[in-house]
Amino acid sequence: MTNRNLCFLLILLGLHLTCVFSWKKDEFRNCNQTPFCKRARARKPGSCSLVAHGVSISDGELTAKLISKIQENQEDESQIKPLILTLSVYQDGIMRLKIDEDPSLDPPKKRFEVPDVIVPEFPSKKIWLPRLSTETIGGDAGPSSFVYLSDGYVAVIRHDPFEVYVRDKAGKRVVSLNSHGLFDFEQLRQKKEGDDWEERFKGHTDTRPYGPQSISFDVTFYEADFVYGIPEHATSLALKPTRGPGVEESEPYRLFNLDVFEYIHDSPFGIYGSIPFMISHGNSRGTSGFFWLNAAEMQIDVLDYGWDAESGISLPSSQSRIDTFWMSEAGIVDAFFFVGPEPKDVIRQYTSVTGTPAMPQLFSIAYHQCRWNYRDEEDVENVDSKFDEHDIPYDVLWLDIEHTDGKKYFTWDRVLFPHPEEMQRKIAAKGRRMVTIVDPHIKRDESFPLHREATQKGYYVKDATGNDYDGWCWPGSSSYLDMLNPEIRSWWAEKFSLQNYVGSTPSLYIWNDMNEPSVFNGPEVTMPRDSLHYGGVEHRELHNTYGYYFHMATADGLVKRGNGKDRPFVLSRAVFAGTQRYGAVWTGDNSADWDHLRASIPMVLTLGLTGISFSGADVGGFFGNTEPDLLVRWYQVGAYYPFFRGHAHHDTKRREPWLFGERNTELIRDAIHVRYSLLPYFYTLFREANTSGVPVMRPLWMEFPFEEATFSNDEAFMVGNSLLVQGIYTEQAKHASIYLPGKESWYDLITGAAYKGGMTHKMEVSEESIPAFQRAGTIVPRKDRFRRSSTQMANDPYTLVIALNSSQAAEGEIYIDDGKSYEFQKGAYIHRQFVFSNGKLTSSNLASVPSSDTQYPLDAVVERIILLGHASDPKSALIESIKPEC
Ligand code: NOJ
Repeated sequence: MTNRNLCFLLILLGLHLTCVFSWKKDEFRNCNQTPFCKRARARKPGSCSLVAHGVSISDGELTAKLISKIQENQEDESQIKPLILTLSVYQDGIMRLKIDEDPSLDPPKKRFEVPDVIVPEFPSKKIWLPRLSTETIGGDAGPSSFVYLSDGYVAVIRHDPFEVYVRDKAGKRVVSLNSHGLFDFEQLRQKKEGDDWEERFKGHTDTRPYGPQSISFDVTFYEADFVYGIPEHATSLALKPTRGPGVEESEPYRLFNLDVFEYIHDSPFGIYGSIPFMISHGNSRGTSGFFWLNAAEMQIDVLDYGWDAESGISLPSSQSRIDTFWMSEAGIVDAFFFVGPEPKDVIRQYTSVTGTPAMPQLFSIAYHQCRWNYRDEEDVENVDSKFDEHDIPYDVLWLDIEHTDGKKYFTWDRVLFPHPEEMQRKIAAKGRRMVTIVDPHIKRDESFPLHREATQKGYYVKDATGNDYDGWCWPGSSSYLDMLNPEIRSWWAEKFSLQNYVGSTPSLYIWNDMNEPSVFNGPEVTMPRDSLHYGGVEHRELHNTYGYYFHMATADGLVKRGNGKDRPFVLSRAVFAGTQRYGAVWTGDNSADWDHLRASIPMVLTLGLTGISFSGADVGGFFGNTEPDLLVRWYQVGAYYPFFRGHAHHDTKRREPWLFGERNTELIRDAIHVRYSLLPYFYTLFREANTSGVPVMRPLWMEFPFEEATFSNDEAFMVGNSLLVQGIYTEQAKHASIYLPGKESWYDLITGAAYKGGMTHKMEVSEESIPAFQRAGTIVPRKDRFRRSSTQMANDPYTLVIALNSSQAAEGEIYIDDGKSYEFQKGAYIHRQFVFSNGKLTSSNLASVPSSDTQYPLDAVVERIILLGHASDPKSALIESIKPEC
């Protein structure tokens, strides 16, 4: 029984004991307890005996059959079960490799190929392969076939032993698959007498009706110093090796969406989300990426060198490299190779497959106030007015599960919240919004219309025996909608209409929690793997996408509610590749300690690197009481998270910003003000993410790809290309060592003092703010008047902070639209570039639609210009044109 179940039981029994939660490692499987992982890890390099046969071009793609050497000599052809390989090439340096069973051989079941993640426009970027060249490279037993990829890059398939790789113009390898001969694909087969396919863990039995079906292979990144990505783990930004000589063997990085209570701050253990996308970066070659579109449980080892010695396989020795080993329980190989070579190129390539982040509403990038729970309408009113009383801006007030009638979502506890519409209207009158939680577990209560309807329509996920799956979550006995089915998603989306969601108003937005899905009494706190979905898909095959589909359906619901006019806001805890198209994400139940504050930086950076720009951690830490010093530092860092929300567990003491004495209130107010003044800059960055995939919050190496000192730095981060922020992660810190990259100077955001780039500075830190700097050569737009919420700032004037570089020049951008609708897609926006040089500031149109300035008229003006680093004090300023021509 989990801690949480125990607490649940105690609560049901009316016992008011304090539940002390901590991560219960034993409740979750490790690799040794996971047969496919254990089997794969035991394999020796060189054990793959597959050979590529019949390599040819068909329908603009390269195709081949992979047949094992043992089968090659089979006389009885019916015993030969080849795998079908297809290799295709897309614009901008993307190679896609698919390997699946041969459908013409009638496998017992079609293996699951993840739908709805690749964006609809991606297939049109396919490059039709005209021909193939084939030659034998010295030392190989068989030939290799080559197809042109892009810009000098070539995709290569070596026939014997089978290997696939990308080569650059200089003939050097970039990324390869199966170079160590570890590829293995367990083909589905009919169960024979004596086959015991069941798996047992902690009293749960997985019937595994289709038996072993795992896939594993090695992927090598060449000229790489570090690898990054594959969230979600609470661990360093640069991924530590998990195996290899000189490395203390650890668990592989696990990708299996789980509700992990009190996750620890440094572990390869998988938590709420899974994005099987890895990025490598190195000084000599640059950046490349590998994405495996597969939604089953995955485990990934990062290896220190050492396989060659064991296997005798010869890999190019002149190239430094990082070897990785990927293992998945089910699915097919659907893998994408990205050639980079710059960090931003890889992100663009990846998001051209999975989509760029949605453009959020402006209010949602401001400050959010949450707690489990704001008790009742009076509490809501009080908290709201206290923000005004203390002159602290905020935009959104959140209601957690207790606002519902017995954890039946879309309902209200009518004693605590008798007038939900009026409550929302009062908040909205101040230009603010509310968010309510809607989780995926549906209470199995015959008096609940949603449950009755879902049961009657057959919309629930089924258990292995074909009955509606019944699991335990907040409401007690619950069932889960089968979100793989588009019909069910669209039915769900309708539930958010103002008519269906009684008590909701247009200013109410949604929070999707527990969507891994969390099942308190399920194996590893989730749904059994042999549960059944739409089309006979087993839960094991799609597990990591369950929350993704739920998030998608909810976001669609809000779009429909606004008749397609308003952008949705939905926060999700579970994550998969492509989540960025549907909304924001947070890093779940962290703890109120310094280690978790520190860990939040690599976690948010990693999500950003893998497409999910709009993310943040609970400010203050979810579990435990936050000391004022920690809370203040957390607000100071959180003000720079793309998603900025304070949140706390119900057992913690109240921690609204004004509860820690006047001085701390002042410090928190200042931190929140920093965020509000930078909203124009943040919004511009969100638009950049929306168009290019490049995240709002970035690792230093994304802006300084050749500076090795930045490669494993995950204490500092960039916000866009202009600001560098260093968190303070220790109590009562008086000093901090900060590496400022590049050749140009950096200007302290508060004092304007200049610091030299390319070196580490030991600086004094004050309690007033964390170190933050503007890079010389950039222009940052701000709004410096403080209001109640972002709504009142709409027509406020701008300040431009111009930080000059050594040539006395700088440039920056601003993006403005109505902050709400989709009109920007029709050109109703302003996107301008500012350039300062030769003592003159000019502005020009960057919009792809030339007339956009006129489509989006704006009253706000630039009222102030702050010039940093000017060689001499300017004596006068001449304004030539207030409204520049397009
Ligand atoms: C778990 C979530 O992670 C947390 O943020 C939320 O407060 C609780 N569920 C209750 O809904």
